[in-house]
Amino acid sequence: MGRAQIAAGNWKMHKTPAEGTSLAREIREDWEATDSNVELVIAPPFTHLQALHDVLEGSGIILGAQNCHAEPEGAFTGEISVGMLSDLGVRYVIVGHSERRQLFGEGNDMIKRKVDAVLRAGLQPIFCCGEPLAVREAREQEEYVLRQLEESIFHLTDLLFAQVVIAYEPIWAIGTGKTASPQQAQDMHAFLRTKIRARYSDSVAEETPILYGGSVKPGNAADLFDQYDVDGGLIGGASLEADGFLAIAKELV
Ligand code: PGA
Repeated sequence: MGRAQIAAGNWKMHKTPAEGTSLAREIREDWEATDSNVELVIAPPFTHLQALHDVLEGSGIILGAQNCHAEPEGAFTGEISVGMLSDLGVRYVIVGHSERRQLFGEGNDMIKRKVDAVLRAGLQPIFCCGEPLAVREAREQEEYVLRQLEESIFHLTDLLFAQVVIAYEPIWAIGTGKTASPQQAQDMHAFLRTKIRARYSDSVAEETPILYGGSVKPGNAADLFDQYDVDGGLIGGASLEADGFLAIAKELV
């Protein structure tokens, strides 16, 4: 398979900068001894980025951010621009995480503007999509997730779309311990790839990494990653501890 295999840790609002630095150091030490083409990504809180940039420099481990603002600069108290992130060595920015959508009121249009901002800065969005439980129970998850793509990323040109990583994260599986079955993940990923093929082309569809997120653990990662259309994981809780995160990443190796 030609497309990138990615294990991305989303630390959310966990760990102090000092704790994060020592965790990153531990991850680096182990990962450097691992022979792998897998992209290992760490997305810590903003306050940790400078320290982690220093710790991870030269290791091949990639720095990510969990959010950004859509505007390049301005009177937006408390916000962080993509230029600031780029300057700190960030390559990936998670955009449209379900917690941003649900708890901070981000809709498809705002997420679209953030995707554009990330790409304008020469960075890569990890674009999150996924349905809530009620939508899954009504068996409307495909239409729901497709709409998220149509309204936030399908306006991109081929060239820009090639920079996008998609993370399918069913909301009912995030932080709940309830994982989508490998078949449920595969079905959605294959559906998304079909839609990308229809909108763009065969080669764009084949090259787009689609990650699964939602209670990925060392014990279920292998079965999920074995699915043809699952190209890695976006990992929350299990990325907060070096052994677990690395065990998951190594299932991709
Ligand atoms: P989880 O989080 O692994 O803790 O379920 C995944 C995510 O929200 O990205």
